[in-house]
Amino acid sequence: MSCPVRQPERQNLEQLGDEDGMLYGEYLMLDKILGAQRLLSEQNNERVHDEHLFIVTHQAYELWFKQIIYELDSIRNIFSDVLEESQTLEILKRLNRVVLILKVLVDQVMILETMTPLDFMDFRCYLRPASGFQSLQFRLLENKLGVKQENRVKYNQNYSKVFGNDSIAIGEIEKSEKDPSLIDLVERWLERTPGLELEGFNFWGKYQDAVEKLLDEQRKLAEVETSEDLKRYKLNDLEKRKEVYESIFKPDVHQALVTRGERRFSHKALQGAIMITFYRDEPRFSQPHQILTLLMDIDSLITKWRYNHVLMVQRMIGSSQLGTGGSSGYHYLRSTLSDRYKVFVDLFNLSTFLIPRSYIPPLSASMKSHLYNWGTVNHLTNGK
Ligand code: HEM
Repeated sequence: MSCPVRQPERQNLEQLGDEDGMLYGEYLMLDKILGAQRLLSEQNNERVHDEHLFIVTHQAYELWFKQIIYELDSIRNIFSDVLEESQTLEILKRLNRVVLILKVLVDQVMILETMTPLDFMDFRCYLRPASGFQSLQFRLLENKLGVKQENRVKYNQNYSKVFGNDSIAIGEIEKSEKDPSLIDLVERWLERTPGLELEGFNFWGKYQDAVEKLLDEQRKLAEVETSEDLKRYKLNDLEKRKEVYESIFKPDVHQALVTRGERRFSHKALQGAIMITFYRDEPRFSQPHQILTLLMDIDSLITKWRYNHVLMVQRMIGSSQLGTGGSSGYHYLRSTLSDRYKVFVDLFNLSTFLIPRSYIPPLSASMKSHLYNWGTVNHLTNGK
């Protein structure tokens, strides 16, 4: 394999490939990768054809997990520094790459589904106690994104136990739990959204006024309703919407939801996310808005992967066999489909707080020019 910018000295093209340097297989260490498919069924003199696919599929997943972690680490590094506009583009590029890889991972499940449950049964006995539950990279990926220990389902709260005495794995897990996760960094970035300053544009104050005006106008419309039933229905609905808005206007209500694990972002970060959503057409908010969209895509795709995986598991082992990793199998996996595993759940729920375009507070001239600078950095500590 030759570097594209290297100009090898050669007499003529027939010598192509003869120059010194690494060859393709050597560069990619294919001897290691292609030599790593050991069929246990074959070692037991009962070779099962589909075990090869089973191993290759898992290995392909692990390689892609590695790439995702590599990208996430680099994105977290950029976020933890001062964010220049050019770096926002780099974050976008890398997040988009993660999203595309995840799309492949979601679809890849289908290839393994070409194996029938009977075929799987032929070699499943050799796997015990191995299970994807012991995938270190999957746990690192979850932690680096920001899946919190307390939000995991009970069975999985001691997940690091499966790594036994492997001090390197335990060390990596502990570090991934302690270091600022992607959501921590995004949260701090959102808290610095220009325009949130009380003494400046004071977006939050203006937004609350706009919501009040909207609800007031809707109340007036409901009150002139001639049908008593419809009037009651509309007024009830308004009361409920008022409560929903209060959950973001009253910091203590918001905090209670955070404590219950139903919200993740700080109150200030949530304000930043709403502001970016409203003013996404402003040049300085358009890339941040794309970042928020990609973060939701990541959550969505991981949820789709969990769903495809659990469907495959049900197809392969049904819903009452235990997993080789010792869990209840299908039922355990189905419980991980809950919102508690969505890291950026607040971004999904933002739509609850949208108001019609005509009610969005217009930007002042000074705010427009302010949008040329992102806020100043609060230096991060490892604490959450
Ligand atoms: C025939 C195919 C598969 C079956 C029957 C299967 C079965 C299971 C079961 C039953 C569990 C629950 C833990 C336990 O073992 O008790 C599990 C967890 C897991 N599996 Fe699979 N699996 C299959 C394929 C895959 C593939 C291709 C991957 C790709 C890496 C994978 C990754 C995982 C991961 C990461 C978990 C942990 C999920 C979590 O705890 O949230 N599995 N699998």
